[in-house]
Amino acid sequence: MKKRINIDYVQYDSPQEMPQADRELLLKAVEAAEKAYAPYSRFQVGAALRLDNGVVVCANNQENAAYPSGLCAERIAVFSAAANYPGHAIESIAITAKSQQEIDHPIAPCGACRQSIIEYEHRFRKPIRIILRGSSGPIMVIENMRSLLPFQFDSDELAVTR
Ligand code: THU
Repeated sequence: MKKRINIDYVQYDSPQEMPQADRELLLKAVEAAEKAYAPYSRFQVGAALRLDNGVVVCANNQENAAYPSGLCAERIAVFSAAANYPGHAIESIAITAKSQQEIDHPIAPCGACRQSIIEYEHRFRKPIRIILRGSSGPIMVIENMRSLLPFQFDSDELAVTR
């Protein structure tokens, strides 16, 4: 039997069309991207997430001369949030990037970051909204990380209690 998975998302043509809270979060991600340490790729990623207590945690990619030792902005953001505010669910995360050329389309998180983010969706049993934008162009809002990572591996497979 052939089956299909559909992904629902909302597209905005400009930040002005977005709800204010999302627009502010995206702006924080843009500011974070400016501070990225990306001397090797020159691809600067910024992430800003909002917790259920209203706190915003920002991060950016941190590269390393030993390339694999660096880490993506999204994972630094969720790990930093979990390290500093362990009891709080993530409600939304905005992700953006800038490079030497203009990026006029949304930048989606890499597979490892999707896996890391979905852990917190499971942990707090609450969807994490994903807000994506390049350095210009449309904004994409996906209602949960599950949509971006179908058939995900999670702790249910391990039969352990969280
Ligand atoms: N990067 C991120 O920060 N997030 C992603 O989802 C994909 C890639 C970073 C890693 C590296 O510093 C640079 O972008 C180029 O891959």
